[in-house]
Amino acid sequence: MSEARIAPEDIVDDLPGPKKDFAPIEGAPRHVAIIMDGNGRWAQARGRPRLFGHHAGAKRVREIVEACEDLGVKYLTIFAFSTENWKRTQVEVAGLMSLFRRYIAKETRELDERDARVRFIGDRVKLDRKLIALMDTLEAETSGNDGVQLTVALNYGGRDEVARATKRLAQDVADGKLDPAKVDEETLPKYLDTHVLPDPDLVIRTSGEARISNFLLWQSAYAEYEFVDTLWPDFSAEEFARLCESYARRDRRFGAVIS
Ligand code: FPP
Repeated sequence: MSEARIAPEDIVDDLPGPKKDFAPIEGAPRHVAIIMDGNGRWAQARGRPRLFGHHAGAKRVREIVEACEDLGVKYLTIFAFSTENWKRTQVEVAGLMSLFRRYIAKETRELDERDARVRFIGDRVKLDRKLIALMDTLEAETSGNDGVQLTVALNYGGRDEVARATKRLAQDVADGKLDPAKVDEETLPKYLDTHVLPDPDLVIRTSGEARISNFLLWQSAYAEYEFVDTLWPDFSAEEFARLCESYARRDRRFGAVIS
């Protein structure tokens, strides 16, 4: 089957079944960031086009947001599309953009009812106007919500984010608003897309690849990492909960020696 013949409405409506319940975890990570990898391989293993895997992957997002509510994970950041992903075929890129539009339109009410607040990070310049309008609406409609803080990285690259932040910082110096002598480690994060978020405590990558692929480069300096073999469409709320439990047992030192 060619990728273009996928009928998204046939598969995206079938979202995960009943919500699973989890007990809160003492010492749960406050902020988990996920590199959702393996959609293409998942689809190919079933003899289906790559977009089929992306649709299956999208279904997992709601389940993980729900698990965050139970487990006590306040911030969840997911890597949906990187600045490098434009190099994929035109069919795959167009299919992903269409999936994002459908997902946002479809999930807005559900996320709002769950009291989730949604933000987007990344450079919007290359995104189409319809998608940007949907992103703006979702951000605005959920802006008063105090539940899970879901951040979707879309056309995001860590180096690109730092470059854009540096450009704004340099402009403030040029405009006399910022004294270069006062620039320190606290300054740059204020210019990053993530300026309102805490740094991630735990970064998870699925599909067996042990790379960070330009994700939250500055912010993950002290994050714990989990690389799991599961392909993203198979990544369950139970596995997510296990990783959060394992995190809660870790001894984080931030470079110090704790006696
Ligand atoms: C990586 O798998 C995944 C992506 C590039 C897209 C991630 C997007 C989703 C999971 C869609 C849902 C997101 C939202 C916010 C609705 P891959 O294609 O690189 O897989 P492969 O390594 O097996 O080829």
